[in-house]
Amino acid sequence: MIPGKRRAAVMSFSLAIIGALLLQTVSSQNEPSIASSDHTSLPVEGDSYLLQCNLTSAHSVHQESYWMKNGEEIAQTRSPNRNTEYFLKKPRGDAAGVYMCVYTFETAPPANATIEVKSAPDIIGHKRSENKNEGQVAVLYCKSTGYPYPIWNWRKFDNGFPREIDNSSGRFTISSRDNYTELHIANLDINLDPGEYHCNATNMLGTRDEKIVLRVRSNLAPLWPLLGVLAEIIILIVIIVVYEKRKKPDDLQDDDDHAGPVKTNSTNNHKDKNLRQRNTN
Ligand SMILES: *[C@@H]1O[C@H](CO)[C@@H](O)[C@H](O)[C@H]1NC(C)=O
Ligand SMILES: *[C@@H]1O[C@H](CO)[C@@H](O)[C@H](O)[C@H]1NC(C)=O
Ligand SMILES: *[C@@H]1O[C@H](CO)[C@@H](O)[C@H](O)[C@H]1NC(C)=O
Ligand SMILES: *[C@@H]1O[C@H](CO)[C@@H](O)[C@H](O)[C@H]1NC(C)=O
Ligand SMILES: *[C@@H]1O[C@H](CO)[C@@H](O)[C@H](O)[C@H]1NC(C)=O
Repeated sequence: MIPGKRRAAVMSFSLAIIGALLLQTVSSQNEPSIASSDHTSLPVEGDSYLLQCNLTSAHSVHQESYWMKNGEEIAQTRSPNRNTEYFLKKPRGDAAGVYMCVYTFETAPPANATIEVKSAPDIIGHKRSENKNEGQVAVLYCKSTGYPYPIWNWRKFDNGFPREIDNSSGRFTISSRDNYTELHIANLDINLDPGEYHCNATNMLGTRDEKIVLRVRSNLAPLWPLLGVLAEIIILIVIIVVYEKRKKPDDLQDDDDHAGPVKTNSTNNHKDKNLRQRNTN
């Protein structure tokens, strides 16, 4: 091998590497760079957490910065400063999420940095109970805080034992999105469906579940008050009829007394006679 050729090859190779490195430095100098606080998990030590972003270099004059949480701008965080802060005071589960500081520039697209604040899920809203008639649709739901968004599942408890929902009838539909889950049960069955349902939210930091009681009434249930009134009316009619029937022989007897001798000698009539006699005395 000719050493000169080798040297030339090595040199051109090195030059290529140096060139690439130089190019990278130049382009990274063009990209704005942001120093930001570390990701964290709740609860935090010291009961508060400061989110910070410092714009350490920029390709052009920056305009302003603002903060976002879960993709939405946080109001009143716009400032012209290169160093910007967002203070989490006594952060609870609902403070968890993806925070982002965004810097805008006069002549370049915005730049940003993300800070994740993680936390175990907490179920902050749910339907405590649902009362429906058979054949109707029941809708049970749960809402959570916490980040990352939980994996949701639903179970039914029979005699205190959890069971995955048996969907052999195809009447169950679960729709979950981020911090919300919904269980639909169509065409409610009065024998199979009533009971205790649990929604379960699980992420890498923890798990929670919450109970919802489903009651299913017979389709006749709305008629019960009406039936009650009907029963009352019937009882009233029976009382009136019985009263009238007991009264009638007495009236007839009075007529009979004037007309002639008593036609029967039943004990009832004796009683009636006694009563009448006592009355006339
Ligand atoms: C941002 O700058 C301030 C002031 O110089 C400094 O105290 C802080 O540690 C910086 N923050 C980060 C995340 O670099
Ligand atoms: C944040 O920056 C990334 C690229 O670095 C960009 O794709 C994204 O749209 C930016 N988001 C916002 C909200 O500016
Ligand atoms: C649930 O997520 C939606 C967007 O995904 C958000 O608007 C809402 O504030 C969140 N609710 C809670 C309690 O985190
Ligand atoms: C139950 O079955 C129906 C019909 O097959 C389906 O559409 C639905 O997604 C299923 N639900 C669950 C929770 O598996
Ligand atoms: C939620 O479901 C998961 C997986 O089935 C289970 O490990 C966890 O114990 C459940 N959480 C609660 C609070 O029951």
